[in-house]
Amino acid sequence: ETNKTFTMIKPDAVANGHIGAILDKIIEGGFKIVALKYTALTAEKAGEFYAVHKERPFYSGLVNFMSSGPIVAAILEKENAVEDFRKLIGATDPTKAEAGTIRQLFAKSIEANAVHGSDSDENAAIEGNFFFSAFERF
Ligand code: CMP
Repeated sequence: ETNKTFTMIKPDAVANGHIGAILDKIIEGGFKIVALKYTALTAEKAGEFYAVHKERPFYSGLVNFMSSGPIVAAILEKENAVEDFRKLIGATDPTKAEAGTIRQLFAKSIEANAVHGSDSDENAAIEGNFFFSAFERF
């Protein structure tokens, strides 16, 4: 079944010049770009996006990091999108990410880990709606 996931290229990967290489990996991985935006999160918006992690010890660091510079947000479509995209990006901790995955190639740390990928179809829809209106989807 074809479905969607949501991703962000995070401030570390943007600052380090990896937007193009990461988009290439995504397209080569068979994902269709439904929506794409170069933007930034304020601390308030980042806090809202990551509200599920509010009680975690890494929350304030994560909010600071995610609002530290521009990001690329995208909605992606593919068969089995959520699961296949998580395979393409690799483990949250880049030292544990498999060779050839986006995080293994481009991430610096568990916090500055280059990309986000939704963890469920439900969250993919919520996260996509956070960034994109109906007019911005193709
Ligand atoms: P992401 O997939 O965007 O979802 C939550 C983010 O929290 C995760 O990627 C990491 O960037 C961050 N994160 C998760 N665990 C930790 C941790 N132990 N320390 C710091 N940041 C973390």
